[in-house]
Amino acid sequence: MNSISQIVKVYKNFFNDEPILVRSPGRLNFIGEHTDYNMGFVLPAAIDNAIYFAIAPRTDTRCKLISADLNEDYEFSLETLSKSKKGWANYLIGVVDQLIKAGYQLKGFNCVFGGDIPIGAGLSSSAAIEAGLTYAVNHIFNLQIDKLSLVRLAQKAENEFVGVKCGIMDQFINIFGESRNALRIDCRSLEYELVPFDYENISVVFFNTNVSHSLASSEYNLRREECSKGVAVIKKEFPVVNSLRDANAEMLESCKLKMEPLTYRRCKYVVEENERLLKACEALKVHDLTAFGSLLYETHVGLSRDYEVSCPELDFLVDAVKEFPAVYGARMMGGGFGGCTINIIENESVEMVTSLISKKYKERFNREATVYVTKISAGTGIVSAEEHAAV
Ligand code: GLA
Repeated sequence: MNSISQIVKVYKNFFNDEPILVRSPGRLNFIGEHTDYNMGFVLPAAIDNAIYFAIAPRTDTRCKLISADLNEDYEFSLETLSKSKKGWANYLIGVVDQLIKAGYQLKGFNCVFGGDIPIGAGLSSSAAIEAGLTYAVNHIFNLQIDKLSLVRLAQKAENEFVGVKCGIMDQFINIFGESRNALRIDCRSLEYELVPFDYENISVVFFNTNVSHSLASSEYNLRREECSKGVAVIKKEFPVVNSLRDANAEMLESCKLKMEPLTYRRCKYVVEENERLLKACEALKVHDLTAFGSLLYETHVGLSRDYEVSCPELDFLVDAVKEFPAVYGARMMGGGFGGCTINIIENESVEMVTSLISKKYKERFNREATVYVTKISAGTGIVSAEEHAAV
């Protein structure tokens, strides 16, 4: 894992010029999981784990990429874009592909990147790479792309080039995130409001199962299909319903016998999750972390039993913290099938809880659970020379 100074050092060893520095954060999501592609609500925040880019334009049409974390490089020409055998490079080539398709005039560039967002942990390292590069290229070529278009371009890079039909949450929070706040994003209208999450006595802690999830695995795309199937059935009865966001529990119940039980369970989870998210935002408004935490636990049950995107390691970690009164709530986070749980814990008990849970996890799975105490941070932006000097 590389720090910003190491990224700059690698850049200067390879290229003889001054790069621009961009910081692109990972994200957490408090609640609202698998709701974004159903046009529902999400409540993510940008975090202090980030990918850093050192980047500068070239005068020709070649792009030279260096992954400092993997110690690998890749070079391509703007004139002949094709998929690379190096998986990591496709997240970046995909961005260039989208920018060209959207009609932007680009030159080549040199880019070194790396950071401390663990890969496959559900903290959205892929969106950090895509949205971070989109932002950086926009900046160095002064393309004047507005923030929402940056989000859409980065999402399309993942949808079309990488081939994962992800929703908009990760790229959106990456660009729009604000320190000390979560964003309640309405994925239908793309309007958002800030929801402060800034408690002196509370920590947000991740337990990484260190079981690697592959979003590209067919399961994620399959869930989208299952939801669309449900929508098609509900729409026949209720033509106003264009997505699960437009459906409520009564509508779904009245269509239950017309759909496969599996489809029903997928839809039920999504409809309930949207309602839970709205309640969770109300709870945060009045600083009721007990109510907020219980909703997180409920989300986990839905994701595990109805949406079936959890795994034994995630279920274990969520169940194991329930015995501690200092833990307000926990659940699996992100696409699923591994990655992290998110936990809301009183500061003074963080050490006790994390060491006990890590021990139990190791005993049960013979694997380490990595612990991160995270901080909500700002979205993607330029790192100034002074900020860099201060890191
Ligand atoms: C991944 C996707 C997001 C979202 C989550 C699940 O992180 O990239 O768009 O669907 O899974 O909530």
